[in-house]
This record gives sequence, C-alpha cells and structure tokens, in this order.
Amino acid sequence: MKKNKIIQDIEKLKKEKNAIILAHSYQIPEVQEVADIVGDSLALSKAATEVDNEVIVFCGVNFMAESAKILSPNKKVLLPIKSAGCPMADMVSAKRLRQYKKNNPDTTIVCYVNSSASVKAESDICCTSSNALKVVESIDSDKILFVPDRNLGNYVKNNVKNKQVELWPGFCPTHNNISLREALKIKEEHPEAEILVHPECSEKVIELADFVGSTSQIIKYANESNSKEFLIGTEMGVLHILRKQNPNKEFDLLYHNLLCPDMKKTRLEDVLNALMYEQHEINVEEDIRQRALIALNKMLEIS
Ligand code: 13P
Ligand code: SF4
Repeated sequence: MKKNKIIQDIEKLKKEKNAIILAHSYQIPEVQEVADIVGDSLALSKAATEVDNEVIVFCGVNFMAESAKILSPNKKVLLPIKSAGCPMADMVSAKRLRQYKKNNPDTTIVCYVNSSASVKAESDICCTSSNALKVVESIDSDKILFVPDRNLGNYVKNNVKNKQVELWPGFCPTHNNISLREALKIKEEHPEAEILVHPECSEKVIELADFVGSTSQIIKYANESNSKEFLIGTEMGVLHILRKQNPNKEFDLLYHNLLCPDMKKTRLEDVLNALMYEQHEINVEEDIRQRALIALNKMLEIS
C-alpha cells in the first residue's frame, strides 16, 4: 500500500474509533509524523491521563504502553508490535526485587519507568529520566535502591546529597554501548559542538557532556541554545525533531550505532493494523495495576 493511502486510512480510523496516537521520540520519522503527541516517557505518561479518547495507540515499547494502561484503565491501550520490549526493563524481576526487600526492609525502592508493571508494583516510587533526581531528593529515607538502570542511578547518586544510593546492575544496551574512544574522536572532529546526552549513558560518556537530560529535555536545550552545532548521545530517533525544529543548526550522533532495535520495529503499516484490528491490547492484572499506580502517582505528584 502507498504511504499516502496508509496515512489517510490511519486518519480515518482514528476518527471512527476515537483514537489517539502517542509516539516516543525514538520512533521512526514516519510514525512520529502520524502521531498526535510525540514526547519522552514522562510526557507520554501524562498525556495518557489527560486525553479523553477511548483508544490509545502507543508507538513505543511495552513498558510505556503498560504505564498508559496503569494510569488509564478505562481506555483501550494498543501496542502495534507485540514484541517491542525494553531489554533493560527485563533486567529486573518482581521476584528478585521481593527477595531484595526481604533482606533490606528499610530501603526505599525507586524504580525507573523502564520496568514491568509487576516491578513497579514492588516499588515505593517511580521516576523517569527527566525527574529521577527530583524524585530521589523528595524521599525522606536516606537508604535507596535504584532499579534497574545502574547508569541513571549512578548519575542520580553523583548529584544527590546525603543519600546512600545502591544500584541494580541493569543497563540500556543502546546507551551503555557508546564507545568512549569513538565519542572522543567525534568530539575532536567537532570542537565547537555542544554535547547533549541521555543519563542512561555510562559515567565516562556523561563526563563529556555539556548537558544531561531526557529526550524532551535534550530537545528543549537544543532549541534554546545559541550554539550552532550539537553532538547527540541518545537514540537517533530524536534527530528527526531536532532537525525539524532547528533547520539552521547541525546535529550529529556522538556514536555511530545509537539505535534501539525495539523502538524501530513499529512501521506505519503496523500503526494502521493496530487501529484496524485493535491489536495488541495491553492489560495489567488489577492487583498489580493498583500497586503500580501508587508508585506512578507518587512520581506524577512531584513532577
Ligand atoms: P526518556 O525518559 O527520555 O523518554 O527515555 C526513555 C528511554 O527508553 C530511554 O532509553
Ligand atoms: Fe530500553 Fe534502551 Fe531501547 Fe530505551 S533505548 S527502550 S532503555 S533498550
């Protein structure tokens, strides 16, 4: 089917089914263009609670669609590609976390939204990359376990005062794999460029950065900066918005392979099929949903 025809059909079905399309900024450009809202995890979670459509087509990965369902249980949440997951989210399980809690009953569990609903249900509070520091600072207890991302957790640990932050050994393969050697070489080739990175990068890469933030925070920083050239240390999907919103600025990646395979699975045809066949519906067991909701709501209250 031709691209224009797919887009027309998507628009038609969206109206018929009172649906809205949310897309993470790591999605392919065509999917971002057809979406009603493009944003980072926090913006999309908030959008899920604010829109009044009956159906949400979530172009992203499983934990994002799950968060939308936890926050909006009466809406039908669809994930166009059933297998779109997050390898980092799979690096912690509710079972292992329960075991940890049994051995460390006085530790507060802070869980990155890149985690399953059942892990959220075992956690005291959630955070995203845009509010992790604020969330940890808001906690009364000084003993914290940060799951599952050791890099984001370490970034928080280095920037928060008077807290003992223990790190779970998870990581994002896409961000963690940035080669410092290559990043240094690219930096040398672009001496005037500002370096903007996601906190899922390793500490050594973060040390090179002029700015560290979530995808939306990176976009905001680049839009407002007077610099003309930027090196981006996050998934290449963000280049689409950065270039669109800043035609007179230059953007390059800090590493050649900044690609999340799961984020790239969703094509326009999949968005159309999701609307047409109402697939793949995301559901969360009610007991888990309610406990995960407490952790998510605590985060939303302070962000
Ligand atoms: P954001 O919180 O910036 O949306 O990042 C989500 C993510 O999966 C990063 O890899
Ligand atoms: Fe998960 Fe990394 Fe992909 Fe984000 S970029 S969805 S953290 S694997």
